This record gives sequence, structure tokens and C-alpha cells, in this order.
Amino acid sequence: MDKFVIRGGNPLVGTVRISGAKNTALPCMAAALLTEETVVLENIPDVRDLQTMRRLLVEMGGEVELGYGRAHHRTTICTRSLNRPEAPYELVKTMRASTLVLGPLVARMGRARVSLPGGCAIGARPIDLHIKALERLGANIAQEHGYVEARAERLRGGHIVWDRISVTGTEELMMAATLAEGETVMENCAREPEVGDLASLLHRMGARIEGAGTGTIRIQGVPRLHAARHRIIPDRIEAGTFVIAGAMTGGDLIVANCEPAHIGALLQKLAEVGASLQVGQDTVRVIGNGGLKAADVNTEEYPGFPTDMQAQYMALATQAEGTSIITENIFENRFMHAQEMVRMGANIKIEGRRAIVRGKAPLSGAAVLASDLRASASLVLAALVAEGETIIDRVYHIDRGYERIEEKLRGVGAQMKRIGEMLPKKVALAPTS
Ligand code: EPZ
Repeated sequence: MDKFVIRGGNPLVGTVRISGAKNTALPCMAAALLTEETVVLENIPDVRDLQTMRRLLVEMGGEVELGYGRAHHRTTICTRSLNRPEAPYELVKTMRASTLVLGPLVARMGRARVSLPGGCAIGARPIDLHIKALERLGANIAQEHGYVEARAERLRGGHIVWDRISVTGTEELMMAATLAEGETVMENCAREPEVGDLASLLHRMGARIEGAGTGTIRIQGVPRLHAARHRIIPDRIEAGTFVIAGAMTGGDLIVANCEPAHIGALLQKLAEVGASLQVGQDTVRVIGNGGLKAADVNTEEYPGFPTDMQAQYMALATQAEGTSIITENIFENRFMHAQEMVRMGANIKIEGRRAIVRGKAPLSGAAVLASDLRASASLVLAALVAEGETIIDRVYHIDRGYERIEEKLRGVGAQMKRIGEMLPKKVALAPTS
């Protein structure tokens, strides 16, 4: 299993380019199930979750090309010969977003068999609300042997009020409703930018959707959808992660090819803690001037402070003067990274859904363990400011959602290597330029 070796203390200087958004690319790939024609997605990130979604679509009988490098981060998907509307446990257990195929399969094929996702490091994360909503569109759903079996001659438009805001729930039902008979109205929907971007693709495929990106979405069902080409939005969480890296390391970093409006809550919080930011049209320049001060954070649904930035913000809070209280309101078990940071010398106390972070705490390099995607990103940030070397184990978590993070960070001055590249015994980290 790959590990990262990071020697801290180097300010990040230069420009880092943000990749396409994983959490848009996944539902957009699932949306290709809604038509027999070809869907082309551009600006997709080279991350492991996309490979998993590709495998899933191919196992169902789809043709999926994932092209990087000269193929410009493009995927071409055609599911004309879809013959096995099933998402097996082997794949769903590695990526719970696989359940996004349930709605599109029932809508297109009239049947689907999808493994239930099971538990996750950050929380229970059931899909009960997805299932309830599909039943409101007329699907007959049975659950047995760990699978959801869904059937519907043709889905019927209906009125859905989400008990709780769900990002993939909103996305999945928005997709399913595009082929339903009649109108569907969904209320208390997720307003994340990924939902709006998925709706843009569906529009290009001929869907009739109003209100995506707001709390209420109206979908007029159509008999079929057609081919489309769509460029997905930049990854706001990757952008936020690098902005925090710049603020923590005292460098002068330009985060380019991002959408600053999508990280408004984060940028506002960073201004509050005293980071110096210059926001451009598709760039954020962050000049680390040290002197960070503590500020509390509550994670909320968009446009509030994103839960997917909570761990990274905790790393920054360890370097801020004063006490920051971080309250996690979305997932019930999303503080696994805290104890690993404590191993590096951070002062963090967990009380239920609150983390009390006292700073500024000098961090020292240590061997730490990544538990999930964003937790591993936060440990990379902590290691960048720690004295000495940190070894992060299980970095396969980070490969799920960050494209070649070690190359991007090395490109702006970080001393970082991936073990698995069989380095000589004494880790030879090239002196920084
Ligand atoms: C999406 O997950 C993202 N994943 C997550 O990003 C992100 O953390 C999350 O939204 C919140 O922003 C993708 O887009 C692929 P939810 P999702 O349904 O849709 C509860 C990352 O790091 N709930 O909005 O699965 C649920 O347990 C990942 O990239 C139910 O109880 O999250 C949670 O507490 C991690 N029943 C809350 O709602 C349901 O049927 C919000 O979850 C559905 C959700």
C-alpha cells in the first residue's frame, strides 16, 4: 500500500491547477445510463472513483472510454447495449456513490438491482431517503440479501419533500424524474454546485428541469434523452484544500482553474482567520502571512461551510492562535483525523459533534494513518507544516478524490514522495529549490 513521506516547513510558492470535480463527474457518468446515445464528458479528474464508476458501467454492458493526457481528461460513454442493470456489492462497497445508478436504471430499463452501500468511516450514510423518494415516483422496491430490487413499468411524476437535504439523493431522483411520466416537484433539495452542473448536462441531453441549484426543483418527464457533450465544473473541495495549504505554509500560492464563488463560505472563514486572499475570476491567490487567529466553524449544507472541508480546516486551526470550535452537523463520525493530528502534537479535544482545537501548536512529523478521503488530505496539510518527516499510510484514500496530489504539491515547493515508488532505504527527498 502506498504511503506519502512529507518533510514539512516549506512555503508553497507558484501556481497549482485544479482538476474537474469528482462529485460532479460521478453523477454525470451515471446520467449516461438515461440514453442509448453517446455522452461525452470533458475536464474529468484522473481519480480512482472515476475508474470504479467506469468499471460499474462496463459491467452493466456499457462502453466507456476514459481518456487522459492527450485525450484531455475526457470520457465517452455509450450504454446502448445495457443488459445487466445491476451494481454488485464488490463495487458498491468500494464506492458508495455507485448507488447513483439506481434511479437512472429504473427510469431507463424499468428495473435495477443495486447493492446497499453498508457503513462508512464517516457515518452510517443510509440511502433510505433515496428509496422512499423512488417509491413516490411509483417504483416497487424490495430489499433482500443486501440488495435493493427496484421495478417500474414507467416512473410517474410526483411530489417529493426530502426529510433531510441529500446531495446524491437530489441528483439521483432528478435523473430518474427526467424520464418519468408527467411532472415531478422536489422540495428541500440540495443546492450544491454539483447538482446544478448535473442539471446542465441533463439539459443538453434534452431534459426539462427548472430550479436546479435552489431548494425546489421541477422536472417535466420526456419519453427519451439524447446524446450530449458537457464540460464539468472545477473541484471546489480540491480548490479549498490547496487554498488552506497556501494559508498554512506561509507561501504565495495561486490556485488556478477554480470557481471561487463555489467556495464562498470557506474564503469568508479564511478572511476571518486573517489569511490574505486575492480572488480573481478563476483564481484564488493566498499569501500566507502567518498570524492566523482562531475562528469557529459549523458544517452545513451548501452554501454553508462544507463538511468536506472540515478536516482540512481543522489542520489550519491547529496553527491558529486561540481556540477554534468545529461543529460537524452533517456526518456523525467525521473526526477520525483528529487523533492522528494529536499524534503530531496538535491540541484537539472531541466532545460529541464538536472538536475543540487549541492553537497555535507546533507539529512534529510522525507516522499517521488516513481513514477516509478528506481526513487524508488534512494529514497532508498538517505534515506540510510539521517539523521533520511525516509518513502517511493508506493514501489510497486520497487517490480516490485528488488527482496526483503529490505532483501538484511538489510543483509548488513541497517536499513529498509516494512510497511504493521503491525509494532507497534513506528516504532521499530532493532539497527544495
Ligand atoms: C455527498 O454525499 C458527497 N458525495 C459527499 O462527499 C459529501 O460529504 C456529502 O454529499 C455532503 O455534502 C458525493 O457527491 C459523491 P448526503 P451524499 O446524502 O450524497 C444522511 C467526499 O468527500 N442521509 O447529502 O452521500 C446522511 O447519512 C464525499 O467527496 C440519510 O440519512 O451525502 C448524511 O448524514 C464524502 N439518508 C446526510 O443525510 C439518505 O437516504 C447528508 O448526506 C441520504 C442521506
